[in-house]
Amino acid sequence: MIQSANHPRLTVPGPAPKTAWGRMANVLRFGQDSVGFTGQLFQTYGPIVSLNQGGGTNLYSPLPDCPGTIFVYGPEFVQQVGTQHEIYYKHPLSGRLYRRKDDSDRTEPLKHFVVGLFGVNSDRHRQHRQLIMPAFHKQQIELYRDDIVAITQSTLDALQVGQQGDIAQVMRLLTMRIATKTLFGEDIGQDGNSIGQLLQNILAVMRTPAMIFFPYDLPGLPYHQFLNQIAQLDDKMREMIAHKRSAGNQERDVLSMLIQARDEENQVGLSEDELLGHAGVIFAAGHETSSNALTWTLFLLSQHPQVASDLLDELQHVLQGEAPTVAQLAQLPLLDRVIKESMRVLSPVPWNARVTSQDIELGGYFLPQGTEVFVSIYQTHQMPDLYPQPERFNPQRWESIAPSIYEYSPFSVGPRLCIGAGFAMIEIKIVLAMLLQRYRLQFVPQVNIDPIGTIVLTSKQGMPMQIHAQDRQFGQGVGDVQGRVREMVQLPG
Ligand code: HEM
Repeated sequence: MIQSANHPRLTVPGPAPKTAWGRMANVLRFGQDSVGFTGQLFQTYGPIVSLNQGGGTNLYSPLPDCPGTIFVYGPEFVQQVGTQHEIYYKHPLSGRLYRRKDDSDRTEPLKHFVVGLFGVNSDRHRQHRQLIMPAFHKQQIELYRDDIVAITQSTLDALQVGQQGDIAQVMRLLTMRIATKTLFGEDIGQDGNSIGQLLQNILAVMRTPAMIFFPYDLPGLPYHQFLNQIAQLDDKMREMIAHKRSAGNQERDVLSMLIQARDEENQVGLSEDELLGHAGVIFAAGHETSSNALTWTLFLLSQHPQVASDLLDELQHVLQGEAPTVAQLAQLPLLDRVIKESMRVLSPVPWNARVTSQDIELGGYFLPQGTEVFVSIYQTHQMPDLYPQPERFNPQRWESIAPSIYEYSPFSVGPRLCIGAGFAMIEIKIVLAMLLQRYRLQFVPQVNIDPIGTIVLTSKQGMPMQIHAQDRQFGQGVGDVQGRVREMVQLPG
């Protein structure tokens, strides 16, 4: 390991803006189109680049000193950053929001909001993961199948043939309902006052640019509204935990399991603040990701009629119009390949972000402690050596390729591998199997589709689609897609 006795500077190549505004402009370009902008940087500078040569930007890190922000891609970097758990630290999703001088009672609840597993490293991370893992064991996940089917059924019943709507929004509400039911034992349905809806509103406020530029607790500003909502959420969550404790805790939702979890050695459980943090992170990490994976898959199927037709053949042959059992999911190989290929082409989580906990060397460069490192899962999935014609959506390729976990990592790698990966795959498969047997979703032509996102890859314009009964007219609505998605995937027309 390299020592920083003389505090050498970060020399990873990248654009070298002369003014603070120039550095900020690069931050904004990353925020607006993280995948496209870094694609250009990688092309110019190679697989390890700085956002701003010689200076950090606190894009992700809540720590006061950030000597640099760098982006990397490729299996070696995925492995090095993803598996060196003691060196590449993670920070809470809400970290930047409580990196504030004016700490107060109002900001106190932020210290455990969306913190959970993202807010612990090293031994504490290992301990917490061990406590949480049982809630995500295969047998436990399989128990959620009936809830997933029931909620999907009620969502599909509410769709109307002939209607045009934003399928991204439908998928978001569906996965949110599944998350609240399996996580808290509560199906939010359309109830606007529920914990799920409150969490959803908070995550929406967090996405507004004014939160980054004006994080002041003044009436009228989104940060003020955000703190009000966080206070409400904190109260409601504490009430729910108290209720679950008093009810003797026989329920089988994730939160109930976490309340019961005890460390094997000393029989110590999670504190109330820790429970709040874990519930927040599992909710945030668990529904935006699945809903975007579903939306992108439906979009790709709408533009690839032969794949859609073959998939429906498989589903109808095995399921005969019914919802799949967990055992039947193993009999649907094309469904598996379609989802794998969709998460390769349009990775729902395009980046894994870390901060170095000590000085370290990466790719031949010295990275001082506190350097932000963003590993591009998306770009790794686009490497032509690994995936010939990477821009093609071709589920068939999975019949003949078997990439290593570092070459294909939609769920990350190493000790921080997504804890909900098994859950997500069951959920996405059930939803697609039920939806596609009942409806055909037709893309509304001439709408721009611009994938954006630094945490989750989402469509800026949502996903407008026309709903038809499943009539196998897969050729309709193919082509005429506009927008940046065309730079990411080869589409007809
Ligand atoms: C298609 C769906 C999903 C994708 C693509 C996905 C992807 C990921 C990725 C890439 C990470 C690692 C992030 C990093 O290393 O920086 C992660 C972590 C995590 N995911 Fe998922 N996820 C999905 C669904 C879910 C679901 C359904 C849940 C829970 C119900 C969940 C809970 C978590 C948690 C708690 C972590 C943190 C693990 C840790 O730090 O130890 N995810 N996920």
